[in-house]
Amino acid sequence: MALSLERLGKYDPKDPQKNRLTDLGPRHFWQYFPPVIQNNYGKWAYHDVLEPGVLAHVSETGEKVFTVRCGAARFMTVQHVREICDIADKYCDGFVRFTTRNNIEFLVDSEAKLDALKKDLQGRTFAGGSYKFPIGGTGAGLTNIVHTQGYIHCHTPATDASSMVKAVSDALFEEFQGMNLPAKVRISMACCLNMCGAVHCSDIALLGYHRKPPIIDHEVIDKVCEIPLAIAACPLGAISPDKTPEGGKTVKIKQERCMFCGNCYTMCQALPLSDKEGDGVTILAGGKISNRISMPKFSKVVVPWLPNNFPRFPEVVENVKKIFNAYAQDANKYERLGDWAERIGWEKFFEKTGLEFTEHLIDDYRLAYDTWRTSTQFKYTDAAWNVSKLVGGIE
Ligand code: HEM
Ligand code: HEM
Ligand code: SF4
Ligand code: SF4
Repeated sequence: MALSLERLGKYDPKDPQKNRLTDLGPRHFWQYFPPVIQNNYGKWAYHDVLEPGVLAHVSETGEKVFTVRCGAARFMTVQHVREICDIADKYCDGFVRFTTRNNIEFLVDSEAKLDALKKDLQGRTFAGGSYKFPIGGTGAGLTNIVHTQGYIHCHTPATDASSMVKAVSDALFEEFQGMNLPAKVRISMACCLNMCGAVHCSDIALLGYHRKPPIIDHEVIDKVCEIPLAIAACPLGAISPDKTPEGGKTVKIKQERCMFCGNCYTMCQALPLSDKEGDGVTILAGGKISNRISMPKFSKVVVPWLPNNFPRFPEVVENVKKIFNAYAQDANKYERLGDWAERIGWEKFFEKTGLEFTEHLIDDYRLAYDTWRTSTQFKYTDAAWNVSKLVGGIE
């Protein structure tokens, strides 16, 4: 392919605007469609899941396309992408796609090609033993974990993304290759409560959480920050303007008002708050984005804090399994995790999962009132008594 170098010459740092190409937008997707997809665009009649990770779509024209979905680490080298391309060249005429959850899909138009492709994919492993292209992620199973940057690239994380995702995926790997759950389970992960991605709307969500207020670097704050921005960043009004003994501009933070969101640090680099012992992981559950049967739901906090135990996060894995297993055993067919928890009542959710209910789980932010129970309807569980005690009710 002709590079822009040939057409437009080299980048000239002395004249950066010369030959500058801009606002070209993405390539049109049509040019990357396999022929079978182009030919049957908008004409699909039905689809089947042939087995975990393998789909068949049948068109009104009678043409078929088989899709093999493979797990991927999302964060990947060019070397790995080239291997993906080699596979696509060998079996799929050079076409391949990535899903909204960062799985890889190889598409073929005959069953003969499908078998060869599957065999090849299953045989590929990394030097350490992990599968390069595990097949799965379809139907009522577990699919890829939507996740964020963590310590690999971001400056505001309270935990790591890739390592935690690997640890949890390893523990639940069978579920990626199976379809034996009541409904699909979406696990997602974000390393701070900016929640880049889907943690606030997933069946199970892992979230990086701080537990200490920011430290104020009084010496530089006025030089590196727009102080009013830092003040306005705080959801709790904990930050106010202040003067240093030398008369310089700075801020003060009411420690007892701060709930460690880290927003002020996002606005102002003189307010760092990450901390080895303080930081950890919160688990949320019960969110969904589809409109199937019930409306979309936010996920709710069910475990306030677990330690950042690098690199395998045993406590996080253990708690995810508790939630996962209780749901898998107890829920009805088609019930998403949040549908199940709402049907049985959250006090039963805590009883069945064995998670502890603590005061951290009771909403105390602005619209909190509507999340409390304004009803005598509840079930007698230890979890329900714990809530009663925590709000100062009957012991
Ligand atoms: C019913 C209400 C909501 C639904 C269904 C919803 C759904 C979603 C989904 C699916 C994403 C992921 C988008 C992607 O992967 O590109 C997302 C991203 C996000 N959402 Fe929500 N959301 C809702 C409400 C909110 C609210 C109220 C807030 C904050 C006050 C919020 C903050 C965010 C943020 C910060 C992101 C990350 C955006 C990014 O990094 O580009 N969402 N939301
Ligand atoms: C009519 C509009 C939309 C359609 C047809 C649509 C379709 C889809 C489909 C088919 C998936 C894959 C589901 C799966 O693999 O189970 C998906 C996933 C996703 N979509 Fe959308 N989407 C729409 C709007 C949105 C909007 C507005 C947001 C952001 C607020 C969003 C955020 C996401 C995210 C984050 C995922 C992956 C998370 C997950 O599966 O839990 N989508 N969407
Ligand atoms: S979730 Fe927070 S820490 Fe993680 S990538 Fe997004 S902004 Fe950075
Ligand atoms: S960390 Fe959040 S709550 Fe605490 S002072 Fe900063 S903005 Fe306010």
